[in-house]
Formats: sequence, C-alpha cells, structure tokens
Amino acid sequence: MTALTLSTTAAPGLRADAIVVGVAKDSGSKSGDLVVAPGAEAVDEAYDGKLAGVLGTLGASGAEGEVTKLPAPSGFKAPLVLAVGLGPRPEKDSGYDAEALRRAAGAAARALAGSKKAGFALPVADAADAAAVGEGALLGAYSFDSYKENGKDAESRNGKAPLGEAVLLGGKGRDKAYKAAVERVTAVSEELNRARDLINTPPNDLNPAAFAAAAQEAAKEHGLKVQVLDEKALAKGGYGGILGVGSGSASAPRLVKLSYTNPKAKKHLALVGKGITYDSGGISLKPAGHNETMKCDMSGAAAVFSAVVAAARLGLEVNVTGWLALAENMPSGSATRPGDVLRMYSGKTVEVLNTDAEGRLVLADALWAASQEKPDAIVDVATLTGAMVLALGSRTFGIMANDDAFRSAIHEAAEEVGEEAWPMPLPEHLRKGMDSPTADLANMGERMGGGLVAGLFLREFVGEGITWAHLDIAGPAFNEGGPFGYTPKGGTGSAVRTLVRLAELAAAGDLG
Ligand code: BES
Ligand code: MN
Ligand code: ZN
Repeated sequence: MTALTLSTTAAPGLRADAIVVGVAKDSGSKSGDLVVAPGAEAVDEAYDGKLAGVLGTLGASGAEGEVTKLPAPSGFKAPLVLAVGLGPRPEKDSGYDAEALRRAAGAAARALAGSKKAGFALPVADAADAAAVGEGALLGAYSFDSYKENGKDAESRNGKAPLGEAVLLGGKGRDKAYKAAVERVTAVSEELNRARDLINTPPNDLNPAAFAAAAQEAAKEHGLKVQVLDEKALAKGGYGGILGVGSGSASAPRLVKLSYTNPKAKKHLALVGKGITYDSGGISLKPAGHNETMKCDMSGAAAVFSAVVAAARLGLEVNVTGWLALAENMPSGSATRPGDVLRMYSGKTVEVLNTDAEGRLVLADALWAASQEKPDAIVDVATLTGAMVLALGSRTFGIMANDDAFRSAIHEAAEEVGEEAWPMPLPEHLRKGMDSPTADLANMGERMGGGLVAGLFLREFVGEGITWAHLDIAGPAFNEGGPFGYTPKGGTGSAVRTLVRLAELAAAGDLG
C-alpha cells in the first residue's frame, strides 16, 4: 500500500526518485502556450523560469493525463522531474478543479510505478487541494498483482511495484486541516482499494462464503458488528430471493449485516449491495462475450463493505449498516428455472421469467431486511442492468429514488467527490409490465427502459415511508478499457466515495 505524507521540504531538497509538477494549457494566450501549475515555483526557478518552455520543446501540450519526463536541474536531490498534464488552465490560478488534480496525481502515480518515493509539487494551496492530490496519488498507484508471477503485474507496469510513497510538498505538515485531509483520504482510498481487490479477485476464489469471511475479518479489525446468515439461516428466515438465486451454485449464498454504530449518532443510514460473486445468467445463460467480466457483479456489495469500514475508520457520528446480498448465479439441476415462483423475505411472490435478472431478487430480500430497522434512509448499489450502461455509458452511474430531494442530494454528493452520476426517473407506467398472471410480480418487464424497470422492481421491497435510492453502477464498476487518471483497469471502486460522503452528510445532519 502506497503511503501518503506531508512535507515542508522544498522540492530541490527532497530525497526522492522524482518530483511531480503540473502543466496546463493556457487557453487565454496564443495557442499552444503552457503554464506550470502552482506548487512548482521552486522547480521552475531552478530551470531559470523556463520550465514551461522546456516542456513545450519536449512536445508537452498540457493535455489531461499527459506525462513528460525530464532530468531534474542540477542541485536537486531527486534525479527526475515528471510533468503531468492538467488540461486547460482555470481562470484563476488558485482554481484548479479538485477532479483535475485527482486525475493528474493519479496519472503521475501510475507513471511512477517502480519508484520508491515521489514528491508532488502540484497545487496544494489549501487542504482540499492537498486532499485531491493525495487521493489521486493513492488511487492511481493501485495495482492488482496477487495472481501474477512473483506478485508483479508484468503486463501493465513492466514488472514494477506500485509507487511506495507520495509526499505532498508545500502541504503544511503541522496544520490540522492538512493532517485531517491526509488522514481522511488515506482511510477512504485504502478502503476503496480494498473494494477493487475484492472485485478483481477471480470468482473461483471469491465465492459468497469467502466474501462473508472477508467481512468478518474486517469487522474484527475495525470493531464492527457483523452477522452472517448462511443458507440454513436464510431458509429459516424465508429469504426466498437470495436462496432462489444461489440455488444453482455449489457455493451457497450469504446475507451479511455489517454494523457501525457511533454513540453520538443521530441518524441511521442503511447501505445495501448486490453481491453476485459470479453472474453466469443461470438457466437463462449469458452467451460468450457477455460473461467474462461477470466477477464484477459483486461491485455493489464491495462498495458498501468499503464504505462501512471507511465510516468506522473516520469515526463518523452516524450509524451505518451495510447489507451484503451474496450469491453465485449458476445453472445446474438445482438452479431456479424461468417460470419458478419465489416467495421473497417480504412475503411477496415473484415469478422468475429470466434467471439473469437475479440482482433485483437478492436486493429485494436485503432491502426488506434493511427496512425492518427503520433507518432514516436506504441506498442500494448494484451492477444491475446492461440497459443503464447503454443509457449512460461506462463512466456514469444512474441514480433512482423514491424522493426527488434525496436523489438530488446524492447526485450532488457524487459530483463533490468526483464521481460521474446522473438522475434517472422511475416512470409509473412501467410498473404494469411486471404484472404476473401467477405471482405478485415478475422479475422482468418491458425491455425498453430496462434500468428503470429494475428500479421499480426494487421499490416494491422498500419499507413504507422509508427514503430510498438506487445506484445502478453497471457502467463504471469495471473498467474494461485502459487505465485513465486514477482509474485502473478492472474493478474501479465505483460509488465508494459517494457512499462515504453520504455518511458524512448524514453525520452532519445535512442529509434529508
Ligand atoms: N449483472 C447483470 C448486469 C450487468 C451488465 C452488469 C453489464 C455489468 C455489466 C445483470 O444481472 C443482468 O444480467 N441484467 C439483465 C437483466 C435482464 C435479463 C432483464 C440485463 O441487463 O440484460
Ligand atoms: Mn444477471
Ligand atoms: Zn447480475
């Protein structure tokens, strides 16, 4: 795990492998002009104020994520200066957008794989900027290489270990706000990276029991209460949705309840995560080409898990209960068939028309279980529908809710932490498409608006009068393309930062 530290040492004096500086496009002046971002003044001075010109000569354009390496000026303890593009220069030099800083720091951290220590001379004018740079560095340095020979991700990093330490230069080391910022982003980033690890772990190693065991271990470490319902307890309790989805697998399902409580809490937030450790589609089997990445179908549960642990590490004055609905969706002689009717935990019956619409079935039971405690709000997170990916693309999650103000609050929280999200409706007319001749409802409705249909299905299992939102992260949960900014290939940790922000808002009494 990469360490994040603050230092008052000036860039020339830092013993490190590299000094990172920011370079932006100055759109205000004649085209092609570059500006060195604040924080790198001492570096620029050492190049006689010509750093921007030197970078231009080397072909730098200031484009977001662009990396240019050059030898450090004489007298520097570090041998290398790494300039990372920040995109267009903001109107005021103090106004670098937090997300631009996060992405630039992430790109730099990725480019510095194999280095032990790097100084970040990026804009850290206030603690919020320092937090953004630090978070970008910690998230960008992530790598998943436990399955590679020698534990090294040879392909993406040429066999290099992740950056060992990111030093924020010019961050006021003794300033309380800076220290708090570093502590906060360290906790959140470490937990987010834990979610990425879980998502990236192959499904033959991460089945529902293994996921539950990971939750138990983290609970012990961070003083959380944990309760695991195994298949026997689920049967006794009448959790027909979770059992129905898990019945085809040799690895039995689990429902994990992870509780963080704070004695000063005034609010109770419940988080519910879809945890399908592998989604083959079941009897409604997915064709080849659609199942290779379906180990990512537990990303919602991973996000919830990480957010609860992060809330605990931050000591937030709020109670947060995480519900992980864990099952493996497999075809077999004992699998649920299209046409079967499940009796859900809520007592409603569901006709399963398509066993590949399994996420809503496990979530239904977990939502109803969460509702029994009458929390102030419930947020569920799920890689629920391909339709949401078609609608919003691979970097944006959809937000649906039974309360417009709550949906807006979540959208704002996401924006604040640098996650792309968009509000989606729950059109009433789509509900009747799920009418079933046999059961209370079917697990599928109209094909058009499939993401919204899924949201309407979930709404049926939220307790009366409880504020609820549903985040469909099917697009951004798993990055099938190349890495960008602080986002690696594979599991991304989508929604973790938004959930942590929601817990903070709830603690401050600013949520609903
Ligand atoms: N896990 C999938 C959704 C998904 C698709 C996640 C792409 C990540 C990337 C989900 O269980 C599923 O199969 N949904 C079906 C629902 C349909 C059968 C009503 C879908 O979206 O096709
Ligand atoms: Mn499915
Ligand atoms: Zn699924």
